[in-house]
Amino acid sequence: MWIYLNDRFVPQEEAVVSVFDHGFLYGDGVYETMRSYQGRTLQLSEHLARLERSASRIHLDLPLSLVRLAELIRESLVRNRLQDAYLRVTVSRGAGEIGLEPSLCKTPTLVIIAKPFQPSPESLYTEGVTVSVVRTRRNLPEAVPPQIKSLNFLNNILAKIEATAAGAHEGIMLNQREELTEGTTSNLFLVQAGRLRTPSLDCGILDGITRGLVLRLAEELTIPTEETRLGVKDLYRAEECFLTNTRQELLPVTGVDGHRLGDGRPGTLTRRLHALFRARLDRFLDSA
Ligand code: PDD
Repeated sequence: MWIYLNDRFVPQEEAVVSVFDHGFLYGDGVYETMRSYQGRTLQLSEHLARLERSASRIHLDLPLSLVRLAELIRESLVRNRLQDAYLRVTVSRGAGEIGLEPSLCKTPTLVIIAKPFQPSPESLYTEGVTVSVVRTRRNLPEAVPPQIKSLNFLNNILAKIEATAAGAHEGIMLNQREELTEGTTSNLFLVQAGRLRTPSLDCGILDGITRGLVLRLAEELTIPTEETRLGVKDLYRAEECFLTNTRQELLPVTGVDGHRLGDGRPGTLTRRLHALFRARLDRFLDSA
């Protein structure tokens, strides 16, 4: 496997970074996870734009232009002979003396990983998954804004540990106002009275790329959508529920905290939206 590291492609064994890298020492950096279908990356410019927004919010200048990063992502797919791939772009503050001051690091570290895509078992889509509302609260936007896709993932990891202990596939975090936010690596959607409802960005969530696509597709189907504030009761009483992320597209939820959600089967609207997502995929893939 060829990994792009800083300024060149190197074999995987040579792709190592310094123990003084502030990404390692402090989680000081940002990243994006992407997926390619038949050699074309889904929403490539949207992902790169989010990477730039995340970097700018931590006062980190990306080492390369977005155009150059897009070229390197395409080259990673070609060099590794990949069609359906998982891609990860990581930019950390770089190596520097120990200390929090970003100026201790002269050059950011850039890593691009492209590896074969491992699909989730089909049964997750046909049977749905379970979620658990965890005690760990989503980071306060005024503390570590969830809109920054940062390397510091402990908030989500603590929630994931809780969810796993509860036997759930995904943990759903609340904010300080007891409102639903998102999963540990996914956005949350509910169907209530024929409306598609999802926590609004000001609840303190990541502006998910898949979330954005689903909202667009719902409009195409003339399904009323609402970005709003939701509570645990809304989740418990929802007719349908699903999670979204780049890796898993739309994942139906059929159980919450040991209870059946809706009729315990992946919902009709969920399946319609997922089918449309797949049918429209071509539109959202990188054209180069
Ligand atoms: N995570 N919310 C959180 C906290 C996430 O980490 C992710 C994605 C999402 C969904 O965003 P998108 O649709 O842009 O993938 C929401 C990816 C999968 C990851 O961390 O690898």
